[in-house]
Amino acid sequence: MDQGFRLFPKEASTIAPQVDLLYFFLVAVTAFFTLLIFVAIVYLALRYRRKSEAMPPETKTDLRLELSWTIIPFLITLVMFGWSTRLFLKMSTPPKNAMEIHVIGKQWMWKIEHPNGAREINELHIPVGRPVRLIMSSQDVIHSFFIPAFRVKQDVLPGRFSSLWFEATTPGEYHLFCAEYCGTDHSRMTGRIVVMEPAKFEAWLAGVAPDETPAKQGEKLFTTYGCMACHGERGPTMAGLYGSTVSLADGSKVVADEQYLRESIVNPAAKVVAGFEPIMPAFQGQLSEEQIVRLIAYIKSLRTAAGGEANP
Ligand code: CUA
Repeated sequence: MDQGFRLFPKEASTIAPQVDLLYFFLVAVTAFFTLLIFVAIVYLALRYRRKSEAMPPETKTDLRLELSWTIIPFLITLVMFGWSTRLFLKMSTPPKNAMEIHVIGKQWMWKIEHPNGAREINELHIPVGRPVRLIMSSQDVIHSFFIPAFRVKQDVLPGRFSSLWFEATTPGEYHLFCAEYCGTDHSRMTGRIVVMEPAKFEAWLAGVAPDETPAKQGEKLFTTYGCMACHGERGPTMAGLYGSTVSLADGSKVVADEQYLRESIVNPAAKVVAGFEPIMPAFQGQLSEEQIVRLIAYIKSLRTAAGGEANP
């Protein structure tokens, strides 16, 4: 991990050099104009200081001057806008092949769950050179997942999912911070990101793999809570649901992403599927954050079932 003082943390993700480049550009533009204004202030104060002779005659407004100091800053801010928008969109659009890892924040720790069910606390092991998407939620207050070396930070909220993606470029260990004040031990809600060579990562993952994947545990919950009673036949089917477009009773359409699935579990009346009665009970407050994540993992695992190949 970073030791001692450095002005900037290491650049350890694909996005980091791009964020830094934009940052340096902003600093350079700001520094240039600050200097320009200060030099002008000093020069004009000396040049036109009060003297015994008469003041020079008043000058008329010069249209060219007015236009240039309006248009040039406008063009510069347009460059800033275009550049940062492109980068922002890139940072908020995870690649399709990203590996998905669940993160749950709570006072005052980070709970991590890998797709195979491997779990970690305050540590996240990831392979180098592979896009990783974190699906994050909080079981109490607002936290924020911050990896300075990757130049990424995302708030983690109770009651909904937020997502963050990155691709690490250099093996090593990096700081993880909570960047949103969340109570007494906020400053100790830290951890480390361990970036490993793919082969080493696979070995690590195999070494900590539990017997059951989150999807398997979700399937059990599905039975325990009696979901199958309706979603087997009478209710909307779960097979192939994830990622599909759902028609709702009010005529609108939504994409069945993680957020939609969460809402449909805790508050089913919010979005009723066309052709069905709103009879499903709300599970608000009855399921822990982990259970919600597992149920969704199960529903996501049924995505291939639409093609009739996989059998849930
Ligand atoms: Cu969690 Cu600050």
